[in-house]
Amino acid sequence: SDTKQYSNILTSTPEAGVGLITLNRPKALNALSSPLFAELNEALADFDADDSIGAIVLTGSDRAFAAGADIKEMKDKKFSDVYKNRFLENWTTMTHLRKPLIAAVSGYALGGGCELALMCDIILASPTAVFGQPEINLGIIPGGGGSQRLARAIGKSRTMEMVLTGRNVTAQEADKWGMVSKIVGEGEGVVVKEAVDLAKNIASKGQIAVQAGKEVVNAAYELTLAEGLRFERRLFHALFATKDQKEGMAAFVEKRKANFSNL
Ligand code: CAA
Repeated sequence: SDTKQYSNILTSTPEAGVGLITLNRPKALNALSSPLFAELNEALADFDADDSIGAIVLTGSDRAFAAGADIKEMKDKKFSDVYKNRFLENWTTMTHLRKPLIAAVSGYALGGGCELALMCDIILASPTAVFGQPEINLGIIPGGGGSQRLARAIGKSRTMEMVLTGRNVTAQEADKWGMVSKIVGEGEGVVVKEAVDLAKNIASKGQIAVQAGKEVVNAAYELTLAEGLRFERRLFHALFATKDQKEGMAAFVEKRKANFSNL
């Protein structure tokens, strides 16, 4: 997957088990055009299908994770265009990935860029990260899930304020509000390095358990508590059918490091 040539993104494997996707439209601050998103979905699908990859990092540049959907591409579209062509519906494809997806956010994560980060499983922020849903200033509202995912992540009042005023929030606010896992240290590239280290750590675990863990946490956003607890327990039971459970527990008892086979 790291040999494919794309026009709007870069892909690589910086560490064993880690797939890295870098949005690469620097002149447009990584505005999420349709061609960019098609490439992103393709690269994500390739990493997801690659048995040697355990976790994926998605990042942009130091200046911009992504400044939103491409306004120049959208400006002349009519209702009939966006409705008939199901505009942005393909953005949700990435929420069905099996492998954990970590957003390494530096600079602007605005509009669709903020929504893209919110579709990832973990968000790490550089101290320079800026999150916002400025769509209101364009005469529209978020269309990539921002209203729903932000409300679940940071609550109604803060989401209303962001969506209705378009005000940007700093990495520090986003951290205080629980929108991101943490703010990493200062410096160009630090957030990507930390995200790759985190992805490497996750990729070193038994991959069936990792994927099951992602599935059950995501279920918390879809199911009632009773249904979610039942789903968790069933998947927990199911993992006793794996070799990794036998190996993980044997290794603990024998005081050695587990050697997971992902079986
Ligand atoms: N779409 C298209 N082009 C964009 C863009 C976007 N979302 N954001 C930035 N660019 C382009 C600019 O047009 C500019 O291109 P030119 O050099 O050809 O003029 C280039 O990127 C650099 O941008 P600026 O000159 O504006 O840079 P700045 O440092 O002065 O400002 C910024 C940075 C505050 C992020 C500003 O670019 C900005 O406000 N961008 C738009 C943010 C926005 O409104 N995002 C929401 C989009 S709508 C959406 O995302 C819908 C949805 O829910 C899916």
